[in-house]
Amino acid sequence: MSPHQTGSAWEVYAPAKLNLYLDVLGSRADGFHELETLLVPVRIYDHLCWTDVPGPPSLTVRSFLAPGLAPAEPLTSGPENLVLRAAQRLALAAGIAPHGHFELVKRIPSQAGLGGGSSDAAATLVLANAAWGLNYSREQLAELAADLGSDVPFFLAQGAAVCRGRGERVEPVSGLPRLSFVVVKPPASLSTAAVFRACQVAARPAGVLPRLIEGLREGAISEAARWMVNRLQSAAAGLCPWVERVQRELAKQSFCGHLMTGSGSACFGVARSARQARRVAQLLSGKDLGSVFATSSC
Ligand code: C5P
Repeated sequence: MSPHQTGSAWEVYAPAKLNLYLDVLGSRADGFHELETLLVPVRIYDHLCWTDVPGPPSLTVRSFLAPGLAPAEPLTSGPENLVLRAAQRLALAAGIAPHGHFELVKRIPSQAGLGGGSSDAAATLVLANAAWGLNYSREQLAELAADLGSDVPFFLAQGAAVCRGRGERVEPVSGLPRLSFVVVKPPASLSTAAVFRACQVAARPAGVLPRLIEGLREGAISEAARWMVNRLQSAAAGLCPWVERVQRELAKQSFCGHLMTGSGSACFGVARSARQARRVAQLLSGKDLGSVFATSSC
């Protein structure tokens, strides 16, 4: 996530993410849950642009989401949007009066478990830091990021990572190969809070995550994918029948493995090659499952 300058304007691309592993270790007194999750950024991007206009920060949102895939509550460009909240948070920390106009182009489906809102917030911190000449380090930005959402620190770290705590303790994972995916976002959205509320915390075998990471590093993708798990999946499936339906369609393909991402409702298959991902994405696009993307890790 590197900002580029054109004249006095700045722009940045904000990737989506997939959770290849998500364990819920317990609930916490602050209402959040203790997590252990392996996240990879993927090449489905929102685009954020900042232009130098006087006055308090403003925002325009343009959506390129397919009809029927917009969130239940449409994204607004008001102060509750994560872009403006992130800009205000940075300006407050830096003790400056923020300014400029942000334009957000949405391509990452919302309320899908793809981290779009969190990625936009991380992109705003990076963009505003550059545009306002603040020179905050990534570590300093990461301290602000956790206040904005559990996944925001991950997007600042750039690359695959294991995230723990609420999600804010980010440990980069190196040496993973490029992975090809088919992502399916059904025409139903899920609230993260509702899925966590419905999730049952249960005891589980240790050592699964290291096996998954080692297998991926060795390029034994099919072996590794057997260790993929998402403890939120059955809770999400109970709230949204689309999760089961998409899983059934993914299971029919000869993927290395398939899973729901984050708190859903999007699901993905790990393809054997970029070519297979493109071929299967085309096939699934004709099945009325919602939006289908062939993509890869970045
Ligand atoms: O941090 P974020 O805004 O993404 O979280 C949305 C909601 O998801 C929280 O309000 C909480 O209900 C739930 N959540 C949780 N445990 C986490 C992350 C999120 O319970 N680690």
